[in-house]
Amino acid sequence: MSDHKSYSRRRFLAQSGLGLAAFAAMPGFLRAMEGMKAMPKLTPNKASPNFKPDVEFELFSRSSSASILPGQQTLVQQYAALLKKGPKDTITDIAGSYLGPIIRLQKGQKVRINLHNKLAEPTVTHWHGLHVPANMDGHPMYAIDPGETLVYEFEVLNRAGMNIYHPHPHEATAKQVYNGLAGALFVHDEEEAKLELPSGEYEIPIVIQDRLFDELNQLIYVRGMHDRMTGFYGDRILVNGFPDFKIDVASRAYRLRVLNGSTARIFKLGWDDGTPITVIGVDGGLLEKPEVKPYVMLAPGERLDVWADFSGRNEGTQLIMRSLPFSGVLPKMAERMMGGGMDMMHHNKLPVGSDYPIFTARVTKKVSESHKLPSQLSTIKWHPISAVANPDKPVPIGISEGPMAMLLNGRPYAYNDIQDFERIKVNTIQLMEIFHAHGGGGSHGKESAPASGEHGAEKQSGGMGMMGGMKHGDDDQKGGGHGMMGMSHKGGMGMMGGMKHGDDDQKGGGQGMGGMMGGGMGMMMSMAHPIHLHGQQFQIVSRSVSADEEADYATVREGFIESGLKDVVLVMPGEKVRIIKPFQDFKGLFMYHCHNLEHEDMGMMRDFLVE
Ligand code: C2O
Ligand code: CU
Ligand code: CU
Repeated sequence: MSDHKSYSRRRFLAQSGLGLAAFAAMPGFLRAMEGMKAMPKLTPNKASPNFKPDVEFELFSRSSSASILPGQQTLVQQYAALLKKGPKDTITDIAGSYLGPIIRLQKGQKVRINLHNKLAEPTVTHWHGLHVPANMDGHPMYAIDPGETLVYEFEVLNRAGMNIYHPHPHEATAKQVYNGLAGALFVHDEEEAKLELPSGEYEIPIVIQDRLFDELNQLIYVRGMHDRMTGFYGDRILVNGFPDFKIDVASRAYRLRVLNGSTARIFKLGWDDGTPITVIGVDGGLLEKPEVKPYVMLAPGERLDVWADFSGRNEGTQLIMRSLPFSGVLPKMAERMMGGGMDMMHHNKLPVGSDYPIFTARVTKKVSESHKLPSQLSTIKWHPISAVANPDKPVPIGISEGPMAMLLNGRPYAYNDIQDFERIKVNTIQLMEIFHAHGGGGSHGKESAPASGEHGAEKQSGGMGMMGGMKHGDDDQKGGGHGMMGMSHKGGMGMMGGMKHGDDDQKGGGQGMGGMMGGGMGMMMSMAHPIHLHGQQFQIVSRSVSADEEADYATVREGFIESGLKDVVLVMPGEKVRIIKPFQDFKGLFMYHCHNLEHEDMGMMRDFLVE
């Protein structure tokens, strides 16, 4: 039925160019235009009698409350777990926190998790970073209703590393994460164990999030379209669920396992006294060798393994981890408003890119034992470019930004809307290119010109197009889906171009999503996006940034780490990133999306079909 409805709306829109601007204001506008097929409702997976788990636990998504600020408790949503089988340290609660318990798994373990939905809304849990079969990955199509139970069964194939578990229901991921549903999931293996890195009380999870509270200590979330466009920003920094977080440390080495669990906020982490940050691992586990950085960028979904050595420091010393000043991650206009307090928009006491503390480490005990930092940490199996299936034809991940929608490859998320270039052959290694799809206006660097041509990004001549038309193919059914956002033939508000559906472009990739948002508008809307791909971790091959973004880029450039395996990469305005990613072992749908979770829920998400 709803299919029929959206079909007729699509027809209507297609036939009446004039109504577009009005419809643009409606939530769901894009999805309706796209003629999205409804997410199916499946029977939840049950335990399979042939699967013999080494570890089994119950996981509950439930409503709860927590003491976060002094005074009244805050209503939250929360994960809780109950171990049924396996080592006792599989599940560790963080006392008093709304965060889910810490889950520790060993490589090679067979794991069964029974997810019970005790919320009043659908949910599903995704194991961000884990390489699991498609039907165990928490795709929104597997969401369960209140009262239902979903059984996950998988073997831990990952190398040691820090992962995340968080909800992934259709259009409600951000809100559920914001309300508290998230937790850290560590995998350990033998390669890591041999290093004898600091463990137990010397290995400290640091989950950083921002939240906004009202006077009654209750969480405030998205207040309007603007909060979605830029992503939502709180003005309190919480670590592991607590404000003003402090750790008492001894004068020795620690391992800090850092995760940015914010929905949108990007951090530039640095010690306040200028001590460099020693990084030993990222999203996909240990680096081969430690990297010493003046500061490190950490976008939503990214993880960092930090070697923090307090040896030689006197009792009473304090070291503060701060977010240091940087610029360029928000659209220029929003950046000014957020900081400047123009009343068009909600002023934030803690603008992104300003300088503020995250947590404090206090040396309270002098000890003599000292742990040495290993010079060789791990061995990574790098895939050479010669191993990729598509050296001349990178799979495109084109970012398009607009006032009403954030899209990938010119399309909003739609179930069962797989484009040719989104079909990936199983057991291949793919070269992929993430880029800003709005062309023209000089916002592309020289180096990116050929690649843009390849994606058709610069095919629409003017490139200044403040608006694109709807250019229909002859089959109206599909045609309505292209040229979305082509509102405002006259309105003057249309900032995005239409899709030019050329047949000259077998590649399909970002075809014709260019031309939009050239020049002024493009620059104004351009912002940073942490792009995440489900499944196996990838390697970063190259990054290049356009000349006109260089000044902002200089404030973050030293903070990226390319020497490890990643599953999220922060793509700055004007930046193009090439990655190599394996698609091994499992067929089925694996998502790719912006991990600015407000963007994800707006539709800045797509599926790869591995087949
Ligand atoms: Cu952490 Cu699909 O995401
Ligand atoms: Cu993920
Ligand atoms: Cu984004």
